[in-house]
Amino acid sequence: MKVRFEDLGRTFEGQPDQLLLELCLDHGVDMEAACGGFAACNTCRVRVIEGELTPLDPVEQPFLDRADQRLGCQARLIGDVRLRLDPGEA
Ligand code: FES
Repeated sequence: MKVRFEDLGRTFEGQPDQLLLELCLDHGVDMEAACGGFAACNTCRVRVIEGELTPLDPVEQPFLDRADQRLGCQARLIGDVRLRLDPGEA
């Protein structure tokens, strides 16, 4: 499945159920993870332009400002998706 970062102009091949943060780390994408991936910050935040990720986990909600945002350390791949990095303040 294809993961396109529109802000970076790059597309990567992801695996089903792969964590977005893991995909970024594997490909050298500069996704920060200030809390270590424990859904306790918003530095890993992305905005979904098109496509779907696994359903929103309630632990993400406090760190999201918009309905199209997700945390890269919680969202997993289920199909092709187009995104942009949208980190909050650490
Ligand atoms: S790395 Fe902190 S919420 Fe994802």
